[in-house]
Amino acid sequence: MQSFWTRALSAGLLLILLFLETRSDASTGCQRRVCYYTNYSQYRPGNASFFPEDIDPSLCSHIIFAFAKLSGNHLAHYEWNDMSSQWSKGLYERVNDLKKKHTSLKTLLAVGGWNLKAAPLTAMAANETSRQDFVDQSITFLTQHGFDGLDLDWEYPGSRGSPSGDKQKFTALVKQLRMGYDAYKAKTRKTLLLTAAVGAGKATIDAGYEVSKISKDLDFINLMSYDLHGSWETTTGHNSPLFALPTATDKDRNLTVDWAARYWVELGTPKDKLVIGVPLYARTFNLSSSDTSLGAPASGAGIAGPYSREAGFLAYYEVCTQLRTVDVKKFDTAMKVPYMVKGNQWMGYDDARSLREKVKYIKNNGYGGVMAWAIDMDDFTGNFCGQGKFPLWSAVNGECNNGA
Ligand SMILES: *[C@@H]1O[C@H](CO)[C@@H](O)[C@H](O)[C@H]1NC(C)=O
Ligand SMILES: *[C@@H]1O[C@H](CO)[C@@H](O)[C@H](O)[C@H]1NC(C)=O
Ligand SMILES: *[C@@H]1O[C@H](CO)[C@@H](O)[C@H](O)[C@H]1NC(C)=O
Ligand SMILES: *[C@@H]1O[C@H](CO)[C@@H](O)[C@H](O)[C@H]1NC(C)=O
Ligand SMILES: *[C@@H]1O[C@H](CO)[C@@H](O)[C@H](O)[C@H]1NC(C)=O
Repeated sequence: MQSFWTRALSAGLLLILLFLETRSDASTGCQRRVCYYTNYSQYRPGNASFFPEDIDPSLCSHIIFAFAKLSGNHLAHYEWNDMSSQWSKGLYERVNDLKKKHTSLKTLLAVGGWNLKAAPLTAMAANETSRQDFVDQSITFLTQHGFDGLDLDWEYPGSRGSPSGDKQKFTALVKQLRMGYDAYKAKTRKTLLLTAAVGAGKATIDAGYEVSKISKDLDFINLMSYDLHGSWETTTGHNSPLFALPTATDKDRNLTVDWAARYWVELGTPKDKLVIGVPLYARTFNLSSSDTSLGAPASGAGIAGPYSREAGFLAYYEVCTQLRTVDVKKFDTAMKVPYMVKGNQWMGYDDARSLREKVKYIKNNGYGGVMAWAIDMDDFTGNFCGQGKFPLWSAVNGECNNGA
């Protein structure tokens, strides 16, 4: 009798626990906190130089190493020190070493990126044979270097020099990778994750992706919901507005995080597979008049930062040091992002407040997580901004845990 009740009780408890577990997972919206790490951050000067040991793995569920390139149909390393040698530990190994203390951390290798031209990707995706060659070698390469998966960063199938037929070839590539990784799992019981970083603009999406088909075969999708405005335009606009201004033009109304996320879902991505990207950097402009508003006339890229060294662009640790002496600083309550003006420099950025708004949005809408481009642009030492280490990504994690 007693053992019956004991067993009934423990079965009941187990059910409650299982129920709670599924519920909290589904309701956090932060089941994935994806951190991109860039190969070139090591070359930033002085205190901005960033190495794998600078990552705080407790703030990331996944680290994605950006980037690898292609050599023929095969994955290949970019940097002289990606791979370990007889004399030194390579960056791949140093990233994967982070898993020793953080055993639930997953690492992926991203192939592609903005700088990889279309031609090598187009050639690799050309036919079933060339694609299968890539699939097979990727399994060897990833497992040899200790990665848990592959992130496809083709920017973009069907545009920027990639012919229109690459849209269907990208689908076929994803399908063959899925089959290859499933077969590998059946044989070894080891999981290889398969993800993609995808565009957020309507033209890029329409030209590049058979959304419902690729969504079925990918473990999750990293939405690059930033670079929505920048100095390639003739008026100021924000890098990554959550929502549009009520007065937005037709074109600008669609250039938001919210629009892009809803469009991917409308085309067939399950919400819980869609990971929303946030920038840890600013897009900047030179103003061409005394008008400092959103939509003010602009004439090219703002001054490069001393560490990130690219006109029209500032890492967050460069933004925060300017914030102390700006002329205008506004948080736009419709777009839910801040911008600031100093002299003729107009800067649209994300801060702890805007990122908390974005995480709330992700949680409220049941999306599959939050992704940062890139973890090396937060104030990782805390010395630049004086707001503690990783002030932005800590705010994201804080909001993720808030009420979870
Ligand atoms: C890092 O990867 C990029 C690809 O995005 C590549 O263009 C670059 O040469 C690599 N290294 C450096 C130092 O930028
Ligand atoms: C680097 O940071 C240290 C500690 O905050 C500071 O004393 C030093 O001036 C910084 N160096 C550079 C080149 O920024
Ligand atoms: C597949 O495409 C490659 C180019 O990437 C080409 O060299 C090869 O001949 C093609 N093979 C078949 C079977 O069509
Ligand atoms: C904006 O998106 C809607 C669908 O959400 C579409 O019907 C419309 O054509 C898009 N407009 C532009 C300018 O892309
Ligand atoms: C932007 O403004 C800065 C400072 O006035 C100037 O040095 C730079 O040349 C300008 N850049 C462009 C693209 O006009």
